[in-house]
Amino acid sequence: MPRCAVLIVAAGSGERFGGSIPKQYQDLAGQPILRRSVLAFLKHPHIDHVQVVYSPSHRDLYDKALGDLNLPEPVTGGASRQDSVRLGLEALAQAEKFDFVMIHDAARPLVDAATITAVRKALDHNQGAIAAKPLVDTLKRSKDGHIHIEATIDRNNLWQAHTPQAFHFDVILAAHRAAKGSQLTDDAAVAEQADIPVTLVPSNPDNMKITNPDDLNRATRLLGQNYGDIRTGMGFDVHRLIPGDHIMLCGVAIPHNFTAEGHSDADVGLHALVDALLGAMSAGDIGTHFPPSDPQWKGKESAHFVRHAVGMVSERGGIIANADITILCEAPKVGPHREAMVKRIAELLEISTTRVSVKATTTERLGFTGRGEGIAAQAVATVRFPG
Ligand code: CTP
Ligand code: MG
Repeated sequence: MPRCAVLIVAAGSGERFGGSIPKQYQDLAGQPILRRSVLAFLKHPHIDHVQVVYSPSHRDLYDKALGDLNLPEPVTGGASRQDSVRLGLEALAQAEKFDFVMIHDAARPLVDAATITAVRKALDHNQGAIAAKPLVDTLKRSKDGHIHIEATIDRNNLWQAHTPQAFHFDVILAAHRAAKGSQLTDDAAVAEQADIPVTLVPSNPDNMKITNPDDLNRATRLLGQNYGDIRTGMGFDVHRLIPGDHIMLCGVAIPHNFTAEGHSDADVGLHALVDALLGAMSAGDIGTHFPPSDPQWKGKESAHFVRHAVGMVSERGGIIANADITILCEAPKVGPHREAMVKRIAELLEISTTRVSVKATTTERLGFTGRGEGIAAQAVATVRFPG
């Protein structure tokens, strides 16, 4: 089988999009846009190597988006997309011998496996192949600075260029080297300059590029239609109370004259939450993932367990819809800390605070919680998966 690498170009600054962080790191239905683009190829059976091209000024965002994936060190891009692709190709040429390369914009996170397969297959009989969409609208041209129609352009034989754009590796590397310094906005144009024939492969119409904030809304809607497999899990946890100076509840340290006894930091709220998430995935419980008998979990921050469960949700392509936690105790008072707890949980689940709820109740001095012998928590979490 020929070896095929993919270059994901993500070194742009997303000026047209604006926003506080570059568009490729913006959240799209629970995952950064770049992560979605990378995963589409990482999971694809015809792709042997995934190389991201990025800007080192985005290093923290890059680590947060992709740090847990098994990827080679990202390559530093250039001032234009064309420069970024060339630099990426040069790095791949150093790394290993590849027969084929696909070039994909990080800003197209909805690329589907069927389009990747079709573009890859086209390379068996062509030196170059790009995903593209036939034009359906009638095209009008205006004059510079005017809004009057100057001409109607025949839409027959017109296509919108998408990515991935794929080529025989040595051929496109040579073409990019030769085109250095010109201002070309895609790789098919670079190939055209070098007289490399390029074939058009019908792309999935949803394989849109995120350019403006409206595009992000559209992509969110498109994905929403595919998250129909909705699952709910519940969790329950109890810890005994012993004298101490603080208690961990929902990731917040609260000064108190009792503390919860247990392995890890004994945070009942987060333990119940982890069980709810695992329950929604039918993936066992906290004890199967982090056995109390294993010394490595002694005194461990429960946030670690939550992050693990969140990672499992995203590995399965899911998003967390909401979490609702109820703490059962006479003391400490939860009210003054509720906001901090909601904020911390939202941070750990990587969702908005409007999707997190923390409630508390006493048990009217009845039972073990009423007598202050222990503290309990219940949690419900809903997770949505493609389906
Ligand atoms: N890109 C790149 N290096 C650049 C410019 C763009 O790697 N110097 C990447 C972008 O990150 C994006 C893809 O090329 O994934 C397509 O470019 P575009 O949609 O134009 O993104 P930006 O250049 O970031 O956006 P803008 O043009 O609005 O600034
Ligand atoms: Mg650009």
